[in-house]
Amino acid sequence: MCGIVGAVGFISPKEYVFKGLKMLDYRGYDSAGIAYFHSGIKIYKDVGSVEHLLEIVPEDISADIMIGHTRWATHGAPTKLNTHPHLSFNQRICLVHNGVIDNYKEIKKFLLDKHYSFYGETDSEVIANLLEYYYLENNDVIETIKKAMSIIKGSYAITFFTDDIKDTLFVLKNASPLVIGLGKGFNLVASDASPMIEQTDEFIELDDLEFGYITKKEVKIFNKNGDEIKKEPIHKDIELISHDLKGYPHYMIKEIEEIPQTVNRIISNYFQKGKYQFDPELIKDLQESDHIIFIACGTSYHAGLVGGRYFEKYDKSASRFIASEWAFHPTYPGQKPFIIMISQSGETADLIHCLKIIKKHNLKNLIITNTGGSTLDRNCMYSLLLHSGVEVSVASTKAYVAQVTLLAMLAASLDKDIKVVDDLRQSLDVVYDIRDHYKPLIMKVGEEIKDKKSLFFLGRSFDYFLSLEASLKLKEISYIHSEAIPGGELKHGPIALIEKGIPVIVFITDPDTASSMRGNIEEVKTRGARVYTIATKSLSRPEDTIVVEDYAYYLSSVAISSIAFYLAYYVALAKGLNVDKPRNLAKSVTVE
Ligand code: G6P
Repeated sequence: MCGIVGAVGFISPKEYVFKGLKMLDYRGYDSAGIAYFHSGIKIYKDVGSVEHLLEIVPEDISADIMIGHTRWATHGAPTKLNTHPHLSFNQRICLVHNGVIDNYKEIKKFLLDKHYSFYGETDSEVIANLLEYYYLENNDVIETIKKAMSIIKGSYAITFFTDDIKDTLFVLKNASPLVIGLGKGFNLVASDASPMIEQTDEFIELDDLEFGYITKKEVKIFNKNGDEIKKEPIHKDIELISHDLKGYPHYMIKEIEEIPQTVNRIISNYFQKGKYQFDPELIKDLQESDHIIFIACGTSYHAGLVGGRYFEKYDKSASRFIASEWAFHPTYPGQKPFIIMISQSGETADLIHCLKIIKKHNLKNLIITNTGGSTLDRNCMYSLLLHSGVEVSVASTKAYVAQVTLLAMLAASLDKDIKVVDDLRQSLDVVYDIRDHYKPLIMKVGEEIKDKKSLFFLGRSFDYFLSLEASLKLKEISYIHSEAIPGGELKHGPIALIEKGIPVIVFITDPDTASSMRGNIEEVKTRGARVYTIATKSLSRPEDTIVVEDYAYYLSSVAISSIAFYLAYYVALAKGLNVDKPRNLAKSVTVE
């Protein structure tokens, strides 16, 4: 989603800002822009990629301050006019903004009454004008920000400069991350630390309702009342986002093929010398809790569904919630609930909203994330990192498998059940087998389904959870409508949609549900469906499409999820779609 970079006094702001925008592009965006000061405010922006932006920006920019932005449209269509940076009506304020301003309509009305006019539809342009309105009134930027912050409601990470203070970038933040990078002779700002890690490992993170400014020599931070506050810089070693495709045509397939490494890395991090290596305090808190609540979004939610079952296996009751649902109707079953949040990015706004509620109620909590230093990593009581390496493709693959792997081990550690580790290792044989032998077959299935308008995935229990993820993945990148149905639920409605030729993809890996699933296959076949069955050897039949070696059935999401991932990948490829950056989606969803 939207990304911000800014530099003051940097030796070459253009180089930093463009490199920074490129490093943020994994978050997903539809338009990009930069602004700088050189005999006045200069802005270049357009719909399309950062590479395209670079083409329209003059070669020989000289500037002491520069800001850049990648936009993922929320308020207003992805057009050039709505692209950031935004310039105020009297051209005094130039601003980039991440987040959503809840009361922008009221503010816009206030400004319209003051004879302001607007060129675009964004809430961000409204804020540029609100800042200008007060700046014209009091000619004091600090007072202006204070006043604006007392009015603005919503989430914002804002960086701006004025037309008359040529060496300073101003920053303000609420509920959207903003980080300052400290340098010698320069200072930087960005929506997360990753674009700054080549220049510095020293950062100041703004907290909610803080604001400040950076020049090349100093950084000053204030609370909302305008009192200066001292913030200790923090040191962070952040993994450099690798843009090396290592010979693969897309990040998605590279990341699918990194699944075995990912699983092995989690095992070696959290299991050593025959013992689990989790924080004993965390394990104690989990053991003492009487109910585990899983909260997550999208793919991570699907990992939470699987994780809930793992904890139930060790006699912990569990509930699972989609974050944006729980946030507006929070429930805490049990006397001593423990919350497990799951998020690849660690920045998902819906989850950050939940964390605020969790903290307000003093509930014990853990985040499982792939992103060290992210908002959730920093602010949760406990954090377990996935160590999967950066996931660039918007569609999550290796991080999902990593989440399930870690959850299997964490749940097992409550009972010191170490067989899970052997099961995980054994499941990797299946992952390798799929990679080495089944890709042509999966590609063929992809060719057969690529022009279909709709299809179904069927499974029960763990295979149902996997079906949900398979269906989401196909939707996300191939834009084919698909639904995952628990086998037993088919007859309660969805079967009405089964007609001649509709593809139904069935997972059969659980001995307890295999025969019921075979019954479901008959039900859809009778109605003309084209069935593709994925089964484990001991449960297979000659007509099945893909048969893999047996594995511990509760690990379907580790052992055979790559079949679903390859399928989505090949279908998107066959349709000529942008596999790594599907339309309308973002890797890091920083708005609610
Ligand atoms: C977005 C992505 C999904 C992802 C979800 C949750 O919607 O498109 O692929 O699963 O966010 O993200 P998180 O970073 O919290 O796991």
